[in-house]
Amino acid sequence: MLFLKPILFSAVQPSGNLTIGNYIGTMRHWSIMQKKYDCLYCIADLHALTAQEKNMCLSKNTLDTLSFYLACGVDPKKSIIFIQSHVYQHSQLSWILNCFSQFSELLRMTQFKVKRNVEKNHVKQTNLGLFNYPVLMAADILLYQTNFVPVGKDQKQHVELTRNIANRFNSIYGNIFKLPKPLIHQYGSKIMSLLEPQKKMSKSDTNKNNVIFLLDDIKSVSLKIKHAVTDSERPSKIDYNIENKPGISNLLEILSAISNKDMNILLKELDGMMYRELKNIVSDCLSKFLSKLQRSYYDYRNDECYLKKVAHEGAMKARLKSEETLKIIHSTLGLVPYFK
Ligand code: TYM
Repeated sequence: MLFLKPILFSAVQPSGNLTIGNYIGTMRHWSIMQKKYDCLYCIADLHALTAQEKNMCLSKNTLDTLSFYLACGVDPKKSIIFIQSHVYQHSQLSWILNCFSQFSELLRMTQFKVKRNVEKNHVKQTNLGLFNYPVLMAADILLYQTNFVPVGKDQKQHVELTRNIANRFNSIYGNIFKLPKPLIHQYGSKIMSLLEPQKKMSKSDTNKNNVIFLLDDIKSVSLKIKHAVTDSERPSKIDYNIENKPGISNLLEILSAISNKDMNILLKELDGMMYRELKNIVSDCLSKFLSKLQRSYYDYRNDECYLKKVAHEGAMKARLKSEETLKIIHSTLGLVPYFK
């Protein structure tokens, strides 16, 4: 496969049920991006091992995630869709990049600090994978000489680290790696929890009422929105200082993303409206959207043969492309080529 357009790479961890945060923060843009970019969409199953639990059903979650990629309009004829563990070059480059990464910069990663604290409170040992997880992410991105990485705000720091690692390598060996840029939208790049709008909506939240999952049934979506925390002022007075009015801002960002409506137009339409009415609109809009998405999801999910074919063909293409980069890195570093 020849890459003629700028290259775009993104991924989701199959570490649980996907949420509207995953969709709004990144996946909703993937289909349209296929026009402008040569896209690689990866299911980051090796990343999910960092939070592996006995009953996690990784292989089921991986195929679930793949079905969502397809349901969101990612087309295997236009883009490369693959499972990370099927392309061994990722772990190879990850090791190499470990040797160009600094302990201190990994210690600064916010996500690591948060996850480690959660584990500390549960008196669990922190595994090494959780610590150097951003280096594997850097390998994912750099293997394909990626130009752009569409992600939510929480992943921005990891893309910045990727650039630092690439810069460090390039400053020693010349311009080997392209420097990727994160693509982060103004609205929807950090969807917050419904009951605790100061924290990010997350797949792993133990309180399911904080989260709208893409597979939630419509009744529970309405209930969750109904109970979502709002703020003390009317929606017409909203500004987007999340710190001031995080609950309402969050509902508006969800509505704007799902209805595909510009935020300024939306604010005019909602002028003077009661919170109850706003919540009804959000839950109607989400229900319509999720019903359609779920129908398409189940069409793909019920055809495992097709899913495996997509994953197989994607892996073959990804291996070819990533092997090109890896060969250059090996020879740059003086590793002896493999003789057939
Ligand atoms: P993950 O699986 O946590 O999330 C997948 C994508 O969803 C975005 N996201 C959100 N966006 C807005 N609001 C939220 N509440 C929200 N929750 C999640 C994330 O920012 C992400 O874009 N490390 C990555 C997966 C990964 C990756 C990569 C991404 C592995 N290799 C290479 C990009 C490039 C992760 O754990 O995402």
